[in-house]
Amino acid sequence: MDFKPLMQTRHSVRSFRNELLSEELLNEVLEAGRLAPTAVNKQPFVFIVVNDPEKLKEIHEAYPREWFRKAPQVIVICGDHDAAWKRGIDGKDHTDIDVAIATDHVTLRAAELGLGTCWVCNFEPSKVTKALSLPEHIEPTVLLPIGRPEEAEIPPKKRKPLTDLVRFNGY
Ligand SMILES: Cc1cc2nc3c(=O)[nH]c(=O)nc-3n(C[C@H](O)[C@H](O)[C@H](O)COP(=O)(O)O)c2cc1C
Repeated sequence: MDFKPLMQTRHSVRSFRNELLSEELLNEVLEAGRLAPTAVNKQPFVFIVVNDPEKLKEIHEAYPREWFRKAPQVIVICGDHDAAWKRGIDGKDHTDIDVAIATDHVTLRAAELGLGTCWVCNFEPSKVTKALSLPEHIEPTVLLPIGRPEEAEIPPKKRKPLTDLVRFNGY
């Protein structure tokens, strides 16, 4: 799919078929994350695929919503604060930026393959940290449910007009 229709097609999917993805499909979307650019090429992230039913239950507890409970697998995208680039002048940690770009790559590649995803950040991080035995410097940043969408219709995109978002030569 060309990039413009792909961006228009990708949307948050909150209803999935109860199917696990093949290893091949999973690798396709994870490869998109791997190819993402990162500050100073530090690649400060790890993608944890959770598809074991018992482990999945623990992840679902971190974001107890009915639709999320039905997600057949979740990619937990974690930032590595030890590995990330920190800007010299003020120490700004770029982990979140790098994780966001990688996540976006994954969601777009998934959409291209006919798969649905939804960013989830409104979860309880301590529950995910415990469930996955994450060390202190590894932050669970995004829960990304992924699977075959099961939706009646695709909602129209609601976005501000460009005129609200763009300025030239100053604020
Ligand atoms: C950083 C980030 C965090 C988000 N967290 C959640 C979340 O916790 N729960 C949820 O249902 N959707 C979440 N979303 C999805 C947004 O609500 C959604 O992307 C937005 O409404 C635009 O809709 P679209 O993705 O269909 O284009 C998140 C999206 C982003 C980018």
